[in-house]
Amino acid sequence: MSFHRKLFLALALSILGVSLVFILMTHITVKKTLEVGIDETRGQEMKLLTQELTAYFLQNNDSWNDLQQIDVLKTIQQDDPELLVLDKEQQIVYQKGDSSHQLIRNLGIKGDIRIAKDRVGEFYYYDPEIANFTKVMIGIPISVVFILTVTGSILILISLIIAYRLSKWLAAPLQKLLPVIDRLGKGELGIQVQTETKDEYGKIAEAFNHMSKELEHAETLRKNLTADVAHELRTPLTIISGKLDYLQQQGKMIQPETLLPLQDELIRLNQLVEDLRILSFAEAGKLTLDKVPTDMSELASQLLFALEPLAEEKSIHLELDKHTNDTTVLIDANRMKQVLLNLLMNALRYTPENGHISIRLLKEDNQTLKVIVEDTGVGIEPEHLPHLFDRFYRTDQARSRDSGGTGLGLAIAKQYIQSHGGNIEVESKLNVGTMFIIQLPL
Ligand SMILES: Nc1ncnc2c1ncn2[C@@H]1O[C@H](COP(=O)(O)OP(=O)(O)OP(=O)(O)O)[C@@H](O)[C@H]1O
Ligand SMILES: [Mg+2]
Repeated sequence: MSFHRKLFLALALSILGVSLVFILMTHITVKKTLEVGIDETRGQEMKLLTQELTAYFLQNNDSWNDLQQIDVLKTIQQDDPELLVLDKEQQIVYQKGDSSHQLIRNLGIKGDIRIAKDRVGEFYYYDPEIANFTKVMIGIPISVVFILTVTGSILILISLIIAYRLSKWLAAPLQKLLPVIDRLGKGELGIQVQTETKDEYGKIAEAFNHMSKELEHAETLRKNLTADVAHELRTPLTIISGKLDYLQQQGKMIQPETLLPLQDELIRLNQLVEDLRILSFAEAGKLTLDKVPTDMSELASQLLFALEPLAEEKSIHLELDKHTNDTTVLIDANRMKQVLLNLLMNALRYTPENGHISIRLLKEDNQTLKVIVEDTGVGIEPEHLPHLFDRFYRTDQARSRDSGGTGLGLAIAKQYIQSHGGNIEVESKLNVGTMFIIQLPL
């Protein structure tokens, strides 16, 4: 059954249930109120008659014989009272008045005669005033139920129409989402659904859109990976084979220094293969970490010291900015060094002369150590930020390999940080600078 039908059924059932309970309760309440009213008006008379009849029965050796001879009603102060007494076999043993038995039974008030819990007989008291009262008593609940049923039915009908519309309206956003989910399932990655509201449906739609985009992105990455790897391998291989061709054609003895550029390319090639191997390991969750308590501040200052000569070439100022003494974390020091090195090498590459690069350490919520690598470099355009940690992603795809790297540094950094249970994010302003924020559990 569809969601819309289920919702409508639930609403309809509750409306019907509530209406029925309401009608029943009204009926019972009105009836009880009227009964109390009758008791109040003839309570005294009923008590007298019960006492008198009980006394007679006992004095007469447990028998109703000759009751007719007695004027049972002599103590009753009402106009034209009538009485009908029946024994326990429902035989009439006494009757006073001109009205028919049926009338007295229907419109009179009934009383029981009991001796020690045993019912020995019953009587019906009747007078014209009580007859009118009883008529009203029978009439009012019937008319109340009639009125309630008629108006109730109209109201139920209206409520059902409203419930139908409401359930349709509530289910409408889902109806829109379902075919789109279906299409995504059939492979239309990236498909989007319109988000019109800010409620839970809107949030589901937003989450769906995000997921769909992510899937599309992951699929594109997957498709591009082989092409990217081939592309990255081709450049060093072309250079190496070109150089070797040239050396062969020259036919001379090869000087050691002529081999240096070849060795450079081979080192690059090796690095690329190694990076890819590590990435695929990390992505499969198979990275082994040699975790030991490590002082991040110590590690950062060692790195900054090692990079000092490179920074000096561009007159870049390096700085460690420590805001907490609680800087010891359980990490694999070598991998973390690699992360910071990747970030710092990027910072050095993209920061112009006389710039400033800093590593800031601060504690957050007593649970997290924040390591921020900040530079005053060229910055990154906002459209690149979501893809920055993807494999082979470079902001300027056309840039030559010499001015940039392979685009694996940040992907590796992210995998390392994640396998430490941490998180890495980037914030950047064009021509102002870039900030990589690492969060590590303390
Ligand atoms: N500090 C930074 N300032 C400006 N752009 C940056 C910065 N860090 C990274 N980028 C941009 O992000 C891209 C991806 O960086 P990443 O480190 O992953 O690759 P890479 O440096 O190009 O190559 P690799 O690190 O593999 O040698 C870079 O190509 C660059 O465009
Ligand atoms: Mg890099």
